[in-house]
Amino acid sequence: MKITVIGTGYVGITTAASLGEIGHQIIGVDIDKLKIEQLNNGILPIYEPGVEPVIQNLLKQGTLHFTTSLQEAMKETEIIFIAVGTPQLSDGRPDLKYVDEVAREVGRYMSKYIVIVDKSTVPVGTAERVQSLIMEQLNLRKLSVSFDVVSNPEFLQEGKALQNSRNPDRIVLGCSSRAAEEIMLKLYDNIDAPKHITSPRNAEMIKYASNSFLATKITFINEMARLCDLLAVDVVEVAKGMGMDKRIGPYFLQAGIGYGGSCFPKDVSALAMMGREANMEMSILRSIQEINQTQTDWFLGRVKESMGVLDGKRITLLGLAFKPDTDDIREAPSLKLIQKLLTEGAIVTGFDPVANNKIKNIFPNVKISEDAYSAAKDAEAVVICTEWKEIIDLDWRTIKSLMHGNFIFDGRNALDGDMLQLEEFQYWGVGRSLNKIV
Ligand code: UDX
Repeated sequence: MKITVIGTGYVGITTAASLGEIGHQIIGVDIDKLKIEQLNNGILPIYEPGVEPVIQNLLKQGTLHFTTSLQEAMKETEIIFIAVGTPQLSDGRPDLKYVDEVAREVGRYMSKYIVIVDKSTVPVGTAERVQSLIMEQLNLRKLSVSFDVVSNPEFLQEGKALQNSRNPDRIVLGCSSRAAEEIMLKLYDNIDAPKHITSPRNAEMIKYASNSFLATKITFINEMARLCDLLAVDVVEVAKGMGMDKRIGPYFLQAGIGYGGSCFPKDVSALAMMGREANMEMSILRSIQEINQTQTDWFLGRVKESMGVLDGKRITLLGLAFKPDTDDIREAPSLKLIQKLLTEGAIVTGFDPVANNKIKNIFPNVKISEDAYSAAKDAEAVVICTEWKEIIDLDWRTIKSLMHGNFIFDGRNALDGDMLQLEEFQYWGVGRSLNKIV
């Protein structure tokens, strides 16, 4: 099928790659000329494992190209994906100005039946809004063209996008007509996954409810970790025992220093805002936001309990991206932690396998090392912020020999605490109880 994907950010590029991979012909559109030029040369503006070779291959085969002209892209297209950004406004709602602008543009050039798909995460009612913005333009042109707007939310996890798109748990299709439903089913025919066909409003809500539920699961275990820490209980064991119950499941029960990224914080805020606009206070969401906000404070409290005053102490943070396998630092707990440690007067050094430059731009005064070993040199404590495999697999004996002290604060419960204690580290994990400190 002939597909246009508007927006070449994370969602747009991964959508183009995954739909191209299953045999569709894709045109990617963006207003940024430089980005389009680079993309046509196979240079990606995002870091996502495996996506670059797929894009390069599709470009070589000639089944994918990028352009700044939506008009050109729309000539033969059957489906248009809207994958533009929806940045957060100061009141927590997503800003729909880019979605609106794309809808108007589509209305300006549409001359035959097309299915327009909302891929960006947008509030309930956005498919209807896109529909009426397109209608407005068609009316101005005195044209009567039929079209459908579908909500097909994105559930890809950064770092695992290709894996997720090749093998999704489900595909949600919010369709308002039989014709749109058939076209969307044909589009995903090659993907063996259950398809949940529902209304656009329901589909829009499914996305927010899913992300908020996952954020709730993480936050629940994070609050449990705080209690486990007080009662000398190991939250990792608790999560394991809980997760064996099929109704609970083992996923998203890893306690840590809080969730970050471009989705969970934004989507929880947007859903809470949707509630407020409907005169309903979503008290669970409010608590989640509060607990997640304070998780780094709580963590820092434990660091201070072990190390005393942090003024002048050398502390090294390993892993700075909001999670492994991405260079994304949006809402990363490491940012909050760096800021708080600096406020306490600590001398902070950091290292991340791919996000170093982004951190340097935000904290020009923090020393960022090119590898974990030099980052750990002379440190009194090492803090794990992100569980990159290459960080877990470090030679900890060497790290210990380079350090000036022996504290490890494992903000992701990713390391083998028992092994580290044998190496004479003082290991502390989130909710793994203070009695681990020897
Ligand atoms: C999320 C959703 O999973 C995805 O379906 C949606 O499309 C976009 O938002 P993503 O933001 O890429 O994906 O990251 P995810 O892997 O879900 O992790 C989000 C955050 O939660 C990270 O900061 C991660 O470290 C944290 N997390 C995750 C935990 O703290 N504990 C867990 O058990 C799982």
